[in-house]
Amino acid sequence: MAFENEERVVLVDHPMVQHKLAILRDKTTPSKQFRELVRELAMFETFEVTRDLPLEEVFVETPVAEAKCKIVKGRKMAIVPILRAGLGMVEGVLDLVPAACVGHLGMERDEQTHRPREYYAKMPKDIADRDVLIVDPMLATGGSSLAAIEYLRECGVKSLKLMVLVAAPEGIRAVLDADPDVTVYTCAIDDGLNDAAYIVPGLGDAGDRIFGTK
Ligand code: PRP
Ligand code: URA
Repeated sequence: MAFENEERVVLVDHPMVQHKLAILRDKTTPSKQFRELVRELAMFETFEVTRDLPLEEVFVETPVAEAKCKIVKGRKMAIVPILRAGLGMVEGVLDLVPAACVGHLGMERDEQTHRPREYYAKMPKDIADRDVLIVDPMLATGGSSLAAIEYLRECGVKSLKLMVLVAAPEGIRAVLDADPDVTVYTCAIDDGLNDAAYIVPGLGDAGDRIFGTK
């Protein structure tokens, strides 16, 4: 990695993640398997995202004796998928953090300008007080993620992380430069973008592959 502020980029490259990502990238992988892999990868990544959660001590009666244990304490979490493709990651995060609530943010990239357009937003009322995790499989130019970050900062969100599956260096730089406090989690950092602003080698259009719309 060669980024300024690279301490705010977490590469989740566990062998199982790399294995599943290889199948995800394969253009012959059908939608059903693609969806399953997106969900599983999101769950693996959530392990890393939640690594810094604070703990508190509790005492638990086991069948044998009292045990000093630790449980997660602290603020509540919200998952914010960027529609559509981000929806594919939500269940994977909820598998690990079932109490999280979900806010939806609709962003669509204009195929000509590659600029995002917001078309839907519905957040939990107390979003400003939650630890917010934006999820989207793809971080390409960074336009959609930046628009989501900007939207959530305007909502008063202070604690913000972005979790993607595949990122282009251009998108990572754009996010790190635009927001001094956001951390980016990704399973891969690819070579760059092509003329259509697709990630190379990437995995194609994530939304179309999840929902079978191509
Ligand atoms: C894709 C992807 C990201 C965005 C990434 O969504 O899911 O949201 O593009 O590109 P960017 O970093 O250059 O903004 P798309 O707009 O294709 O919508 P979809 O999820 O409905 O397919
Ligand atoms: N959106 C995608 O779904 N894939 C890319 O490679 C870039 C943007």
